[in-house]
Amino acid sequence: MKNVKSVPLVAPSILSANFACLERQVRLVEDSGADAIHVDVMDGYFVPNITIGPLVVQSLSKITRLPLDVHLMIQQPERFIVPFHQAGANWLTIHIESPGHHQMMIKRIKELGMKAGIALNPATSLTMIEWLINDLDIVMIMSVNPGFGGQTFIPVCMKKIADARNMILHSDSDALLAVDGGIKIDNCLEVAKAGADLIVMGSEIFNADDPGQKTRQAKEILKSIK
Ligand code: DX5
Ligand code: ZN
Repeated sequence: MKNVKSVPLVAPSILSANFACLERQVRLVEDSGADAIHVDVMDGYFVPNITIGPLVVQSLSKITRLPLDVHLMIQQPERFIVPFHQAGANWLTIHIESPGHHQMMIKRIKELGMKAGIALNPATSLTMIEWLINDLDIVMIMSVNPGFGGQTFIPVCMKKIADARNMILHSDSDALLAVDGGIKIDNCLEVAKAGADLIVMGSEIFNADDPGQKTRQAKEILKSIK
């Protein structure tokens, strides 16, 4: 049966990790049951911040067996599909608000063997993906305005997560519903109950003294969804 709800996946976002010891940080969450590593790519144009590029993804791909969930917050995603594929990205998500032909970009991402996702900013209507939904492997609802880690979850997004879950249910799509931004130990279960399959968690995990313990705690809490 389609869309049977299972325990949501947890993808720690390395945006808040200590980059001086990134390998150790990734291993900590991997050994503690993380399901994917979320990699936030920012170009200083699409969002007011600059982070990392394919080189870091390439290094990460050599030290983890987890899928690399690469979130492109960049103005020209089309130019970077192949470089991130070659670097070892497994899942590649582009923003619906970025310029370009999204249907073609999604097709290209899938042809290269990656899971293809579309992210929507908090103020963007779900109708923007109405004609794309059946092509998607991931629908990513942003619950903060992208650009920085450590922001507060925007409350109205809870309803949007539920609407997105409904949209997927009533489509031919089996897309994973990812939610990204402001998710903490305190609200992760509510986000999951609203319909999330994939919980991105950055500052809550990597600002903690023990990122591994936070990862285990999130996984444990999310088990109660069943
Ligand atoms: C925001 C990023 C998020 C962010 C999540 O631009 O896309 O992935 O790092 O971090 P927290 O959990 O701190 O909001
Ligand atoms: Zn992200």
